[in-house]
Amino acid sequence: MTAGVQVIGHPLVQHKLTLLRKKQTSTIEFRRLLGELAALMAYEVTRNLPLREVAIETPVAAATGQAIDGKKVVLVAILRAGIGLLDGMLDVVPGARVGHVGLYRDEQTLHPVEYYFRMPRDLEARDVIVVDPMLATGNSAIAALDRIKAQRPRSLRFVCLVSCPEGIANLRARHPDVPIFTAAIDERLNEHGYIVPGLGDAGDRYFGTR
Ligand code: URA
Repeated sequence: MTAGVQVIGHPLVQHKLTLLRKKQTSTIEFRRLLGELAALMAYEVTRNLPLREVAIETPVAAATGQAIDGKKVVLVAILRAGIGLLDGMLDVVPGARVGHVGLYRDEQTLHPVEYYFRMPRDLEARDVIVVDPMLATGNSAIAALDRIKAQRPRSLRFVCLVSCPEGIANLRARHPDVPIFTAAIDERLNEHGYIVPGLGDAGDRYFGTR
């Protein structure tokens, strides 16, 4: 197990991921499964969020409860496939704010180029969870984290469903302080930049564009 990388081995996550991977899975099913997986992942990823004590009154007595500390959590979707993880995560963290990072790959340099960046205010007081279903080369994740880190979030986490050793090594080398949560570490990256066995193009499968 690589330090800083947590594989979510929960049976529900693994079962749904297997269904998601299958090439016969329809767009409708893919969307539903991605949403369910996002909610289950959110549950694990938020496990260590800091709590604070709050005074409340129940119908019976005054009591002390626990509430998530600080300003609302921020979910950041890396466009476009990251959008597929938002709704499921928002089911679990409904008050979360949402940021977006849009990146495309320059076919000459093969480096990610940013075309969109929009974050909620006050990242310094917020815990940020960056989401993208696939951690392939790691270049988009690195570029997104570079930009978000410049705004000094209180904490930063990266969540994907399927990753590969190449992407993990790249991301860990550049951002060793950012924990990675993934449902699977697959075998490798192929010459076209796809994870093997992976699940194909997550964006195309979610949006039905191929
Ligand atoms: N992006 C995808 O959607 N799938 C891969 O296998 C790699 C990158």
